[in-house]
Amino acid sequence: MFLITRREQFGPTTFLWDVQAPDVARAVRPGHFVMARLDQHGERIPLTVADFNASHGTVTVVIQTVGKTTIEMATLRQGDFILDFIGPLGLPSHIRELDGTVVLVGGGLGVAPIFPQLREYKNHGNRTISIVGFRNRDLMFWEDRFRQFSDELIVTTDDGSYGRKGFVSHALADVLAANPDVREVVAIGPLPMMKACCEVTRPSGIPTIVSLNSIMVDGTGMCGSCRVTVDGKMKFACVDGADFDGHLVNFDELALRQKRFEHEEKAALARYRTESAALASLKMPAESHSLPPASTCTLPQPAAAAPKPLVPKNLRSIPPERAPMPQQPPEVRRHNFDEVALGLNLDAALHESERCLRCKKPRCVPGCPVGIDIPGFIAALQRKDIQRSYQILKSTNALPAVCGRVCPQESQCEATCVVGAKYQPVAIGRLERFVADCAMGRGWDEFPSAHVPSQKKAAIIGSGPAGLACAGELARNGVQVTIFEALHVAGGVLKYGIPEFRLPDFIIDAEIDNLKKMGVEIRLDTVIGKLFTIPQLLGDMGYQAAFVGTGAGSPKFAQIPGEAYNGVFSANEFLTRVNLMRGYRQPLYDTPVGMGKRVAVVGAGNTAMDACRVALRMGAEQVTCVYRRTRRESPARTEELEHAIEEGVQFMWLTAPVEIVGDPSGWVTGMRCQKMELGEPDASGRRRPLPAAGSEFLLDVDTVIYALGTTANPIIAQTTPGLKVNQWGYIEIDERTRMTSVAGLFAGGDIVTGAATVILAMGAGKHAARGMLEYMSVSTGGTV
Ligand SMILES: Cc1cc2nc3c(=O)[nH]c(=O)nc-3n(C[C@H](O)[C@H](O)[C@H](O)COP(=O)(O)OP(=O)(O)OC[C@H]3O[C@@H](n4cnc5c(N)ncnc54)[C@H](O)[C@@H]3O)c2cc1C
Ligand code: SF4
Ligand code: FES
Repeated sequence: MFLITRREQFGPTTFLWDVQAPDVARAVRPGHFVMARLDQHGERIPLTVADFNASHGTVTVVIQTVGKTTIEMATLRQGDFILDFIGPLGLPSHIRELDGTVVLVGGGLGVAPIFPQLREYKNHGNRTISIVGFRNRDLMFWEDRFRQFSDELIVTTDDGSYGRKGFVSHALADVLAANPDVREVVAIGPLPMMKACCEVTRPSGIPTIVSLNSIMVDGTGMCGSCRVTVDGKMKFACVDGADFDGHLVNFDELALRQKRFEHEEKAALARYRTESAALASLKMPAESHSLPPASTCTLPQPAAAAPKPLVPKNLRSIPPERAPMPQQPPEVRRHNFDEVALGLNLDAALHESERCLRCKKPRCVPGCPVGIDIPGFIAALQRKDIQRSYQILKSTNALPAVCGRVCPQESQCEATCVVGAKYQPVAIGRLERFVADCAMGRGWDEFPSAHVPSQKKAAIIGSGPAGLACAGELARNGVQVTIFEALHVAGGVLKYGIPEFRLPDFIIDAEIDNLKKMGVEIRLDTVIGKLFTIPQLLGDMGYQAAFVGTGAGSPKFAQIPGEAYNGVFSANEFLTRVNLMRGYRQPLYDTPVGMGKRVAVVGAGNTAMDACRVALRMGAEQVTCVYRRTRRESPARTEELEHAIEEGVQFMWLTAPVEIVGDPSGWVTGMRCQKMELGEPDASGRRRPLPAAGSEFLLDVDTVIYALGTTANPIIAQTTPGLKVNQWGYIEIDERTRMTSVAGLFAGGDIVTGAATVILAMGAGKHAARGMLEYMSVSTGGTV
């Protein structure tokens, strides 16, 4: 929670907060922004930093009431708290001595963020001219502050009620005419104002920096919501900016993108105004869980000894059919976010366990990336000793309830199960899930404090499966572990990507609680590379080793015309709005989703299936999955693909988008596609799709969601000197120790391999933990 230490009203709609955030105040620089979230159901709002005071530990933001959230913010007073205050984000402004004059132009609310830049330019010995503009005198603020650091200050008001009458851009033109030594102009304010200033400076070519506060979700480069076109290239304002060369910005496109949620925002505001009293008294309904937090499974009496195996157990003596997984019917589940697969009951699980031959040389085990003793846990289940079965699972897999739900067993352990030679293989994943669910709330987890606490400290960056597995392994060996997570919740893709109908949140929360019980500290809202750097962690902050498990969270776009249209999402953005920000529970939650009725999802992996199925549940009338290869090459889990088909998703195989078309107001009206044919295999071993001549057609859609995979987020690499990354930005490691090129820094998961799977990320986290223990000279006492 973050305390508002001071509130000052500037005019009817503008106010200032000083927020107590000592770490942010120490790290922030002019040009940075922060993300604020008021409460559990609030949206994440980017706010450009207007000032900061490291010795008081405060950060100043100036806010104008425009929509529901900012109106709610206006009701908070000094002494109130807000839930999240994340920063500093973005790149600091490039402020230096310029041997001439710098003109700083602020319009309306933009007057506030331009102030720290003015002060910094002045401190660098530049001559400064400030032009600050307001609609009228009543809205004016900080004239005295600007005068202190400006060699010349011009105040303009649109109505002439104070200072010079007219726009700041007119004043800028006069200043340029009178001052031939102007080296740089910085303009911050409404888009039309920044654009007008850029047009004033364009003829003389004076560098003009603008700050683009586009619509954001995470603010860390994960979703692509904030994308802007600069010099014809797509940039993410939150990581590539917010400062850009104004002469290269496509302002018209950005102006249309800023209207993406106009409709939702108007509706939210109207609701807030007319129903605020009712909303205030509204009780938040409990989160819907398809399973209660504690298992309701009635435990059988364990058999004293293993039941007599059907000796010799062989393929002819086992039940040929798999125990079916009970599921919500497709026509019901496509309208809710409750879990689709309901889990085996005891009888079904025992039936399925009987299908395991308990092979002497089990082929399933090498197929499991973390080497679970599969026949061992199934044998314990056969003799109804579910607690023992759980302990066997947990000894190698920290998150069995998660893996039992989302692991692609059909291409791992089940693919190599010998039963699969004749019948369907043993349903190992379903049994894993059954046992893990049975364990929930029964206190079967052991939280061993190490036999000899090591006094060593390790930092984990990222709380996805790689980070969680690494943390668990270190904590088991007595290391004091702190996980630093950029988002306001822990879990990584498990939380923001995979929807609740596949992986309910409480399953992840239960696993994270177990880690906390082992002493692992989790610091949310902490972006490493921004709030703290890796050198700081490994230096002054006293961590002997650190692990980077930041995932491959940066979305890919197809780089075809029309991607800036409103209605085009990355799957990361779409799923984050729905899953992490609870957009599906509007109006109780504030984050809009902005999806239309006819949706195309491009790609056919797990992420694409999730996007398709979420779109159906969000009320899409038609969802079409467009994939340039065939079903055979689709990387999605078979079960997810089948579920999507059952729920009514349409598939267009051998089809690729070539252009997204839109209307003059900036909204998608269709997607031009072409049919593909499969050619020779490419580097991935899959046959290369080639366009079929003359096959173009227009798909009638109003929403396009890209699920084309992800790439490495650059924040850690940019801020860690000496860290080696490959040509795609993924971190290079030593295969044995998992250490990076920086001593004491280890890495694993998607940030090393590129987008992969939960279990591979966990395996990588665990493996790196061994390297870290060795590096820190921690005795493992045989536990690792
Ligand atoms: C929609 C979707 C569905 C998927 N479905 C499946 C599936 O069914 N089965 C399967 O096995 N795999 C699936 N995957 C893939 C799987 O989720 C990933 O391979 C796995 O989560 C990678 O784990 P990780 O720990 O490396 O990274 P992540 O899960 O991405 O976690 C990284 C964490 O690091 C945080 N972070 C990033 N940068 C910083 C920073 N600078 N400072 C602090 N924290 C930071 C992020 O916020 C995030 O929480 C899916 C992926 C997606 C996107
Ligand atoms: S390979 Fe199949 S049958 Fe053999 S032990 Fe593994 S799960 Fe059981
Ligand atoms: S807000 Fe910039 S990428 Fe998500």
